[in-house]
Amino acid sequence: MQEKQSIHGTWASRWIFILAATGSAVGLGNIWKFPYITGENGGGAFVLMYLVCILLVGVPIMMAEVFIGRRARKSPINAITELAQEANKSTKWSILGLMGMLAGVMIFSFYSVVAGWVLHYIALMGSGEFVGASSDKAGEIFNGLLGDPKTMLLWHTVFAIMTVVVVIGGVNKGLERATRILMPALFVLLVILLGYSATTDGFAEGFDFMFHFDASELSWDAVLIALGHSFFTLSLGMGTIMAYGAYMPKKASIGSTVITIAVLDTVVALIAGLAIFPIIFANNMDPGAGPGLMFVSLPVAFGQMPGGQIFGFMFFLLVGVAAWTSAISLLEPTVAYLVEKLKWSRVKASIILGVIVWAIGISCLLAFNEWSEFKLFGKNMFDLLDYATANIMLPLGGILTALFAGWVVSKKVSLEETAISENLHTVWMFTVRFVAPIAVSIVFVLNLK
Ligand code: PFF
Repeated sequence: MQEKQSIHGTWASRWIFILAATGSAVGLGNIWKFPYITGENGGGAFVLMYLVCILLVGVPIMMAEVFIGRRARKSPINAITELAQEANKSTKWSILGLMGMLAGVMIFSFYSVVAGWVLHYIALMGSGEFVGASSDKAGEIFNGLLGDPKTMLLWHTVFAIMTVVVVIGGVNKGLERATRILMPALFVLLVILLGYSATTDGFAEGFDFMFHFDASELSWDAVLIALGHSFFTLSLGMGTIMAYGAYMPKKASIGSTVITIAVLDTVVALIAGLAIFPIIFANNMDPGAGPGLMFVSLPVAFGQMPGGQIFGFMFFLLVGVAAWTSAISLLEPTVAYLVEKLKWSRVKASIILGVIVWAIGISCLLAFNEWSEFKLFGKNMFDLLDYATANIMLPLGGILTALFAGWVVSKKVSLEETAISENLHTVWMFTVRFVAPIAVSIVFVLNLK
């Protein structure tokens, strides 16, 4: 039988799929967000919760997303509709795809603002602005940026355009190649940075902070943040991996594919934390400093190390690339849907969506200055979009995906599509039917204050 193909294209191989999905997963979530939320939530206990969530909830749900996309070879809404019809069940499940598209738009809006900071830092690093800088000076530079909406708007706009241009071109070409070269380069740079931080006075303290388990540090709020972050960092709960799965070439075992992606993603996050915290402690900075953590601590370190100007420049360049490959994947499910549903050209769909997310992004960058007084549910726009997506929409999307894959799709189909052994399939089924939905629900309920 002729294998079904997506109208949007197909990755060249299973490895390209792995790289593309890793490109989506590895991004600001790993290098910027993970260290600062670990810092805000007390360290080791939080890291442990995060690892448990990746394994128990993230991996099984990622398997579900990949096979749903690959079976239908369509964008999430249409893929879910098709699988529901195949099982003679309600097509209302496709609302899951709709919520995912909305989450993608919301995430992109604040993501692009932070990616804009990264672009600005590439320029600052390159011009030697941080050579010999103290942590006070680095703090001033970062706060200066937050108070300067014009500079933020410029870089946010550049980043949004860069992303839309790639989505217009289709994800396979160019992006595939760039990912293949740049992801390993990012990894090498992180290791170099880790090597540097291992020589600082704060390394033992930094290591201890990240891996010392102290149960008293745990709060239900921290567990929710760890859970939400495990979805965010693996790009789950909003259909991105489902959309990428639709372009996966053949029926290969989904288990090993997904584990490879999850391991790569986790390793990058842990290295980022191990690179950042020692520098924080060695310079008597505050690990709970929030979103500015990476933008203040790393420039200080680069400013002091030999060759730091060039390393710092390359590091931020590569963080920018990691953010770029993730941002593309935030738009892809919606663009694919608009092309399928409204028969728009990819160019039209990408540009219209790009303008919408760019405009919402402006409200996020103004949250740091002109509109800082404006709050909804006690949060500014930037924090609100971050919180609502990572801690509510993605976990909710994740539970629904798990329930859909476990209860709606027939066992025969999931066994065939995941192509894992029957025993593993039983474990997987138990996880998506019970463990993941119950765990996520408990965390949700305990957080209703
Ligand atoms: N996984 C990305 C990161 O960790 O930076 C963010 C992200 C990309 C979330 C794509 C969700 C998504 F669909």
